[in-house]
Amino acid sequence: MKNPNYTILVCNSYRITGSSQGFCSKNGAVSLLEYLTEECSDRGIDAVVTTTACLNLCSQGPIVVIQPNNYWYGGVTADKVDIILDYLEKGEPVKKFLIE
Ligand code: FES
Repeated sequence: MKNPNYTILVCNSYRITGSSQGFCSKNGAVSLLEYLTEECSDRGIDAVVTTTACLNLCSQGPIVVIQPNNYWYGGVTADKVDIILDYLEKGEPVKKFLIE
């Protein structure tokens, strides 16, 4: 099996107990996970989209991280996902959405 070109991480606020609670989860992370998965598939982007525990940037959530590029995005919405993936296809970050 070939490794994917990208790993896209969506914070879903999981805590050490396994429960999903926190800012990202309460602000659309679950639907972002689904939307990113579908969009990557539709666009032919070779990515694994998965979810994470809290990434300790709650006040800037929902958080999406794209590796190996090391792009960390905050305040992600479905509209922003479209733009983020447009830029990813060009190999560029959306600088205004990056967490500083
Ligand atoms: S809940 Fe997403 S960064 Fe903390």
